[in-house]
Amino acid sequence: MAAARHVAIIMDGNGRWAAARGLPRSAGHRAGVEALRRTVRAAGDLGIEVLTVYAFSSENWSRPKAEVSDLLGLFRLFVDRDLKKLHENGVRVRMIGNRDTLSDDLLDLIRKAEMLTVDNRRLHLNIAFNYGSRDEIARVMRDLALEAAAGNLDASEISEDLISSRLDTAGDPPLDLLIRTGGDTRLSNFLMWQLSYAELLFVETHWPDFGLDDLASAISEFSGRERRYGGLGAAETATA
Ligand code: IPE
Ligand code: IPE
Ligand code: MG
Repeated sequence: MAAARHVAIIMDGNGRWAAARGLPRSAGHRAGVEALRRTVRAAGDLGIEVLTVYAFSSENWSRPKAEVSDLLGLFRLFVDRDLKKLHENGVRVRMIGNRDTLSDDLLDLIRKAEMLTVDNRRLHLNIAFNYGSRDEIARVMRDLALEAAAGNLDASEISEDLISSRLDTAGDPPLDLLIRTGGDTRLSNFLMWQLSYAELLFVETHWPDFGLDDLASAISEFSGRERRYGGLGAAETATA
């Protein structure tokens, strides 16, 4: 069985983790950042090439203002304060999501992190922030339509590969495994194009409790699965 090269995580359950302890949701989000640090280390140790994490969706703006501002603050702190350590550990950082509505100072921090770490090869960390899969696909379609209208693209050249190469995840290996913590079994507008043939794993663990053992057991569950891509499995092929 092939290794999981590209793993994505919907880091869900911070609020419920906090509620179960009588703490405010903000404490759950803070503990969630610790889990992210642990998981990034674990991903490098387990030989994962690309880790794509869902930190803030394009729909999360509908939360109370104070919570949105907590989440923005934590993201900013992570990109700023953790940068040196991530760089030392060979992590390449990239933000995926819609940049149009983010403030200039936050964009500066993101660009700085991306530029500093661009040549790192141990682990590629995509942080999905202000990310929505429909928004991502709409952005690609808009760009292609504009290029076609300007005469720079022939519509007949629009292929699956061309679209993949324009998505925010361009250049990454195909997604192998999606893990969603927190027990809900939905995608919440995450990576819908990229997930076409990924294996899906939904776990009850709330994100702040996630760590090396959980990631290792997810990888082990993944390696026991047979991916058929529409073809026949090993057993059927042997008897065909
Ligand atoms: C995930 O935890 C963090 C974000 C969505 C930003 P939640 O805040 O959604 O936690 P629950 O789902 O309410 O427990
Ligand atoms: C998905 O979690 C988004 C992130 C983890 C960043 P949500 O908690 O926002 O998803 P829904 O609202 O339960 O679908
Ligand atoms: Mg949630």
